[in-house]
Amino acid sequence: MRLTTKTEPETKNFGKKIASTLRGGDIVALYGELGTGKTVFTKGLAAGLGVKEEITSPTFTLMNIYKIQSPGSKVQSLVHVDTYRLKNEAELIGIGAEDYIGAPGTITVIEWPEKITSLLKLKTVINIHFKHGQTPSERSVEVRDN
Ligand SMILES: Nc1ncnc2c1ncn2[C@@H]1O[C@H](COP(=O)(O)OP(=O)(O)OP(=O)(O)O)[C@@H](O)[C@H]1O
Ligand SMILES: [Mg+2]
Repeated sequence: MRLTTKTEPETKNFGKKIASTLRGGDIVALYGELGTGKTVFTKGLAAGLGVKEEITSPTFTLMNIYKIQSPGSKVQSLVHVDTYRLKNEAELIGIGAEDYIGAPGTITVIEWPEKITSLLKLKTVINIHFKHGQTPSERSVEVRDN
């Protein structure tokens, strides 16, 4: 499935829509160059999951964890990883990320997943690819099954 969004809110809304299809344990990998909308998408996804806090980019923290407080929800947390500044996979393991990635009560979103291929190797991942479009405010967003 691929769509072209023309505004930031449209990308956010797509994140919200994808959120409704997710279950605990799911891992969503967001591929794409700088500024293609991965964090914007994650903000919508978080809102869709019922995260009340503001989502900020984990570029420097590497991993942010948000509580999900929707009544009756089986998912307790959203983990947002950004490996852009990661030196190696060991650094992410060192901050305890393995306890969260793919854990049953957690949904994990990873920006720059290509940096942690061995960590993700044995896991089922939903891959979403972001690209700049024809105009400065256009983005192509494609969900792949592989
Ligand atoms: N259609 C659109 N969808 C999403 N963002 C858009 C769109 N049009 C313009 N933008 C702008 O593009 C930028 C996307 O930034 P965002 O932080 O989401 O990128 P990113 O892919 O997470 O980059 P990074 O790899 O640096 O983390 C924002 O400034 C946003 O306002
Ligand atoms: Mg980002």
